[in-house]
Amino acid sequence: MSWQQRIAAALNERQAADALRRRQAVEQGAGRWLSRDGERWINFSSNDYLGLSQHPESIRAWQTGASRYGVGSGGSGHVSGYTVAHQQLEEALADWLGYPRALLFISGFAANQALIAALAAKGDKLVADRLSHASLLEAASLSPATLRRFSHNDAGHLQRLLEVDADGLKLAITEGIFSMDGDSAPLAAIHQAARVADAWLMVDDAHGIGVTGEQGRGSCHAQGVHPELLVVTFGKAFGLSGAAVLCSESVADYLLQFARHLIYSTAMPAAQAVALQAALAVIRSEEGEARRATLAGHIAAFREGAQGAGMTLTDSRSAIQPLIVGENARALELAGRLRAKGCWVTAIRPPTVPAGTARLRLTLTATHQPEDIARLLEVLHDAGQ
Ligand SMILES: Cc1ncc(COP(=O)(O)O)c(C=O)c1O
Repeated sequence: MSWQQRIAAALNERQAADALRRRQAVEQGAGRWLSRDGERWINFSSNDYLGLSQHPESIRAWQTGASRYGVGSGGSGHVSGYTVAHQQLEEALADWLGYPRALLFISGFAANQALIAALAAKGDKLVADRLSHASLLEAASLSPATLRRFSHNDAGHLQRLLEVDADGLKLAITEGIFSMDGDSAPLAAIHQAARVADAWLMVDDAHGIGVTGEQGRGSCHAQGVHPELLVVTFGKAFGLSGAAVLCSESVADYLLQFARHLIYSTAMPAAQAVALQAALAVIRSEEGEARRATLAGHIAAFREGAQGAGMTLTDSRSAIQPLIVGENARALELAGRLRAKGCWVTAIRPPTVPAGTARLRLTLTATHQPEDIARLLEVLHDAGQ
């Protein structure tokens, strides 16, 4: 088989399963509205949970940062790309989240890959929630360690898997809030299971940071859990992009030696670090609190309305409210119907989610208005959901 034949076969297979992914360029994709080709829809697809991607303070901070530092960092942090702006942001994050150290990464995907690749060695065991994000599962399966998956949110299963054939070092891996289901992990039980089995816990709180907990400190803080390794990302509630690993002094020093994504990759622009400081200040402020309260109100209104209309919801209390419809074609058709009625939603299909669980992944944000939620409910009802 040639490269060309292999590529064509893979594309054909995706097409036949209604699973071919395509992108659509939009004029605006974060915030209350999604606009494209002169039309606009109420946006129920973005992870800009607090609406900070458009926040004037973040925009101004990015502009000020660019005027001071330029638009690129000019190199890896190990060479010349680590500025005082990066350092101040790392210190602020560590202080906010109660860790000795924070290390910035260019994305959450890179942070997860780097952390797992740097830590896991042959003979170790990584035990991850089976619904963990692709960046975690891929890194774990590519590592020389053994990967086992525990049943979703099942701390007992995690403990059993950690305890079987336990010679090497062990790492339990989960998310704070699951990206495609929106439900929360029982972090206290999971951390306890890890401790009993002498394992460390790594939590990816991409969808919890900024949105839950006091001052938006996220799922771990809200549940009183302090994992050995915490990953937070900035593409969601922060409204920007990038990520940080929160850890001890020695883990940070270790990652600076062995995390290849840090060493061999250009650091994020300093201007972005300045903008992230501004976003962090909003998240920690009363305004951040008010935005979280608005979002919580929308989540409650959506759930109440949907349940009242007989729709089946998941356990999610977060901004991610999936409607699981099953077949790919049905999810695509429903998404199309909603779009025709002014609501932009995305159909999520395997392999992003398990086979037979294609869904509409609805995301609510603080920029929505109560009438947007009412419109969504009406349109879902009309679409027969
Ligand atoms: C749970 C989780 N972790 C990590 C990532 C990757 O983060 P980033 O978008 O910053 O690469 C995502 C999605 O974007 C996610 O949902």
